[in-house]
Amino acid sequence: MEFTGKTAIVTGAANGIGRATAVAFGKAGANVAAVDIDDAGAKRVAAQIEDTGGAATAYQADLTKPAEIKAMVQHVVDTYGRVDALANVAAIYPRATVLEVTEEYWDRMMDLNLRAVFFCCQETLRVMLPQGSGVIVNIASGAAFRGIEGLSVYSAAKGGVVSLSRGLALEVARTGVRVNVVAPGNTDTDGIRANLTQEQLDAAAAELVSGRWMEPEEIAAAILFLCSDAASGINGGIINVNGGNYMI
Ligand SMILES: NC(=O)c1ccc[n+]([C@@H]2O[C@H](COP(=O)([O-])OP(=O)(O)OC[C@H]3O[C@@H](n4cnc5c(N)ncnc54)[C@H](O)[C@@H]3O)[C@@H](O)[C@H]2O)c1
Repeated sequence: MEFTGKTAIVTGAANGIGRATAVAFGKAGANVAAVDIDDAGAKRVAAQIEDTGGAATAYQADLTKPAEIKAMVQHVVDTYGRVDALANVAAIYPRATVLEVTEEYWDRMMDLNLRAVFFCCQETLRVMLPQGSGVIVNIASGAAFRGIEGLSVYSAAKGGVVSLSRGLALEVARTGVRVNVVAPGNTDTDGIRANLTQEQLDAAAAELVSGRWMEPEEIAAAILFLCSDAASGINGGIINVNGGNYMI
């Protein structure tokens, strides 16, 4: 896939799936805006892309703050002049069972996992719609389609990401812009490893029909495909990347 001369914004780019996506866009020739609240991590990823001959800029933003999203997109336009792809990857997934959920937890989950996705889409569409081109890929989860213990609020946010993406896809359908969803299954990322031991990862893998966790690069590949001209007919679609562990 070829993205030379194109500009891609990747949120959550410092770690996990976001990092793999930013690196993949860099390898494919895109100018990459690596956006994350983790400034050092975003800078590391941008440096990694530049070290391998790509073009990247790191941008620190707390995406729960719409003003920071607005400033981020403006910075990308000032730097590269356009936005061709947006991968909304950043999310958090701490667990809380129903009686443990507090207002603070609800707001924290929704503010990043759903509200930030909308405002990143809105700010980017302010650029893509006048361009008459561009692709947004929002990252959902298998949790959007089935319950997972301790993740009901996360499931609600990710279900919201799916519905939001369909609504936006319809609104932009006649403009040359596309909006799609990638729904990863269990993926071996920094965020997962921060919470699970190798033993727990192995035990979970044994329960999966694939017998293994997905690699972040496998999710990135689906994101790049949807952003590429090869997917020019796909709008409002969902690609599950889960090794067949659930099928919708
Ligand atoms: N890993 C999995 O098994 C899995 C499964 C299904 C869906 N997903 C989804 O894939 C995406 C990536 O997950 P991951 O496992 O790679 O996560 P991760 O924790 O490894 O990385 C998430 C990134 O988001 C950043 N971030 C957190 N809060 C932020 C904020 N307020 N503003 C800006 N950036 C912020 C973090 O700094 C981090 O770099 C998420 O949308 C997640 O819900 C992951």
